[in-house]
Amino acid sequence: MKILTIIGARPQFIKASVVSRAIAQTEGIEEIMLHTGQHFDANMSDIFFNQLGIPKPDIQLDIHSGSHGQMTGRMLVEIEQALLEHKPDRVLVYGDTNSTLAGALAAAKLHIPVAHVEAGLRSFNMQMPEEINRILTDQISDLLFCPTDTAVQNLNNEGFANKPVQVLQVGDVMQDSALLFAKQAVAPSGDWPEGFILATLHRAENTDNPERLAAIVAALNEINASLAPVVLPLHPRTRKLIAKQGLELNVHLIDPVGYFEMVWLLNHCQLVLTDSGGVQKEAFFFGKACVTMRDQTEWVELIEAGANELVGADQARIVEAATRNVGRKVKDTHNLYGGGKAAERIVNVLVKAGA
Ligand code: UD1
Ligand code: UDP
Repeated sequence: MKILTIIGARPQFIKASVVSRAIAQTEGIEEIMLHTGQHFDANMSDIFFNQLGIPKPDIQLDIHSGSHGQMTGRMLVEIEQALLEHKPDRVLVYGDTNSTLAGALAAAKLHIPVAHVEAGLRSFNMQMPEEINRILTDQISDLLFCPTDTAVQNLNNEGFANKPVQVLQVGDVMQDSALLFAKQAVAPSGDWPEGFILATLHRAENTDNPERLAAIVAALNEINASLAPVVLPLHPRTRKLIAKQGLELNVHLIDPVGYFEMVWLLNHCQLVLTDSGGVQKEAFFFGKACVTMRDQTEWVELIEAGANELVGADQARIVEAATRNVGRKVKDTHNLYGGGKAAERIVNVLVKAGA
């Protein structure tokens, strides 16, 4: 069986690394890797292939930047070409980026079955590009690998139980990665302030909205000045938009880091402040409280477990929640994310499905 995997953005490399590893250990499946090029800086792409042992992509499209329509449209054209050439039995996509949607759509139009890893997540905010991408991808997939019970419930609510597709709770591949690579943590180069807070910030809903971005920057500056040093590996999107708006971010800024460095930062910080999807869960995997600078989250079980708190983009709320949560430890007592077996389960299903 020939599977063509489509990846393109940082979190997809981390998710695909564990599934790709499980595929390589399984007889009878061949994986062809297509990198759309959506993320292209060495520290947003190559570093993950090197650290996580992901095979070099068989197909590299080098499509990035520009508007959503441009990026997705160009990917659709080129992925269709690659699918016609390689004739896979199945296409495998991850998450909710433009690469995910372009890959799923190109495959579905050619009647190639699509498996979606991270199916069923919803924020119920259609302003988010990710929400559009994941809803549409789910609609055209026939193997829907859900990471949580809530994701399964979301799909049931949308009528998936009556469709000729498989909706499966397999756990979260990001927990597989966190467990697999935890021992390889390495300190990023530089001097590390004691007791720092780890922050990440890149979501369009925050960076592309001048009021939200200004409020978050002000909150981070205030926390850094009066609570604890804030270490922020800055996403290129955010770097550009902060410069464009002429904002001053007075925290411990570093370039984006590799996964091993990120694991070190997660291990050593005393709080996580983020708008990332993946980092909310990683805070939990590494036992740290998380304050999420968004209005909704797809990972509602973390809120219910008291591990994560949503504070939007309000300066006072961010500072107050950070002050209350700094140093607080959290524990996974309910095995919320599958315990590191998601990739194995996914590959077993792929093998059984036969295509
Ligand atoms: C994308 C995903 C988002 C995901 C994030 C992970 C979509 C719609 N969004 O957002 O869901 O959370 O990836 O990080 O697919 N850039 C660089 N170098 C890079 C990568 C990006 O300079 O290596 C620049 C691009 O040129 C662009 C901006 O960053 O100007 C945004 O990149 P893009 O891939 O469009 O979206 P992300 O914000 O990365
Ligand atoms: N990450 C990383 N280096 C960084 C920032 C994040 O390796 O400098 C990892 C992080 O640990 C997580 C993934 O990237 O595994 C999350 O990706 P991101 O926040 O870009 O996207 P999202 O999860 O919000 O889609």
